[in-house]
Amino acid sequence: MSGSNHLSRRDFIKFTTGAVGGIITVGIGLPAVGFLVDPALKESKAGKPIAIGKLEEIPVGKPYPFSFTITRVNGWERTAANYGGFVLRKSADPKDILILSSRCTHLGCTVNWNESANAYLCPCHDAKFSVQGEVLDGPPPIPLRHFNFTIEDGVVVIVPVEIGQEG
Ligand code: FES
Repeated sequence: MSGSNHLSRRDFIKFTTGAVGGIITVGIGLPAVGFLVDPALKESKAGKPIAIGKLEEIPVGKPYPFSFTITRVNGWERTAANYGGFVLRKSADPKDILILSSRCTHLGCTVNWNESANAYLCPCHDAKFSVQGEVLDGPPPIPLRHFNFTIEDGVVVIVPVEIGQEG
């Protein structure tokens, strides 16, 4: 009788090899799949608050330029884009601040503060914006956009999402 309940040496080796192979496959395969899929599940880092300067170093009444870079992660693709703007302290009151984007509302060129013109000038199509971002001249349809902000331990922190000006 060759006992059907009896496990032969050959079957034992087959079973053991299969079990060990399965454990190794799962042990290596799951982390590998996780490594490949994980970037696609991660959220973009855009939108995190950004510190742009100490309040005490920003003069009252004069646009103070700043810039920052946002790195966006979209799955495996990572792109960096530069943004900028101007902090305008309208008075000594720490809350009396306007933080403008330097992106022209016409076609997106970067505006620059011009002291002698007392305005932001866009080099692309000669637009002119007032110190508070209102359109004074040129093709832009709306004022410069602005950023929301908070003051944290004497540092101006912005939410890097441009928003239109009300009113
Ligand atoms: S992009 Fe600024 S005026 Fe056209």
